[in-house]
Amino acid sequence: MTKIIDFKNNISIDELNIIKNSFESGKLVIFPTETVYGIGANAYNENAVTNIFKAKNRASDNPLIVHVANNKMLEEISLDISIIERKLIDAFMPGPFTLILKKKNIIPNIVSANLDTIGIRIPENEIARKIIEYTNLPIAAPSANISSKPSGTNPTDIIDEFNNKVDIIIDGGQSQIGLESTVVKVINEIPVILRPGKITPNDIKKITGEVIIKDKVSNETIISPGLKYKHYAPTTKSILIYNENKQILKHMIKENVIGKTIIIGPEENKNYFKNVTYLSYGNNKDYNMIAHNIFRLLREADKLKQDLIIIEGVENEGLGIAIMNRLLRACEYNYITTKR
Ligand code: TXA
Ligand code: MG
Repeated sequence: MTKIIDFKNNISIDELNIIKNSFESGKLVIFPTETVYGIGANAYNENAVTNIFKAKNRASDNPLIVHVANNKMLEEISLDISIIERKLIDAFMPGPFTLILKKKNIIPNIVSANLDTIGIRIPENEIARKIIEYTNLPIAAPSANISSKPSGTNPTDIIDEFNNKVDIIIDGGQSQIGLESTVVKVINEIPVILRPGKITPNDIKKITGEVIIKDKVSNETIISPGLKYKHYAPTTKSILIYNENKQILKHMIKENVIGKTIIIGPEENKNYFKNVTYLSYGNNKDYNMIAHNIFRLLREADKLKQDLIIIEGVENEGLGIAIMNRLLRACEYNYITTKR
């Protein structure tokens, strides 16, 4: 049976000990981070890590991120940190940022899907840091969701999906950011964004002067193996619609409504659409709020089992780059930007 530990208001030592024991004995623990929830295991324990792949139904060639509490732990598992990598670590860790570094052999190959690198992250969330610090083990953890589904950002969705499949679920309330970390790999001394997130290309540019956004599935070598898989997708057919002209955008959404449609969009359009279920993701300028709500709303919309989900997109700028990246995948690239 899964034990639910509530750390929303207070982190107790007794329960920290239970969590530490659980990690030490190779069990799975779902824990909050500021981005999304992670399904974690002791990164040194091959069997435990195998069980993460099983619980998520995740392809074994998709590597996991290893979570540590501080720079010292980061150095225990990585090699040859360059000057630029060091700058990125100093600027963005702890935080919603994952850096791909050369890995030491003490991290088993199953964690990195046989790559000689690993993604490393120092979460800022207090609960995440406390449990990793207290356990004093690197924790391998992908997002807490069955593969291809939206990442888990609130305890209710997570308990629905993982009750009785993991040893412990730690309730830390709804994830603050709501989208996964920005994943970066430094290639030829230039930071390359493999997955956009809360830390934007501009944030990185300010630190290193240069940045490349590489987030396409192409025939070139796929440098972030996770990108080739179906992601964040509701079971219901979904389309993403965006046009920078807000009036045209509303018309475009209206002309695509069929049968029983759910629209996920900004609060200000709520009264414009009749005879549809409208789920508001917040003010259309507040990208932090949209990121915070979006995965929860995709799951909520899917549960209503209608014919179609239409999602109103956002401008592909700043945090909007990460939001659009996830929404494009959620809609399996059903994307409309110009009027019929
Ligand atoms: O915010 C987050 O990053 C959350 C929380 C739990 O930390 N974790 C997360 O993990 O989103 P996951 O497994 O869902 O996504 C990890 C991404 C995948 O796209 C994976 O392919 C990529 O990071 N990745 C991991 N290790 C890599 C490596 N060595 N080289 C390239 N890409 C890597
Ligand atoms: Mg994931």
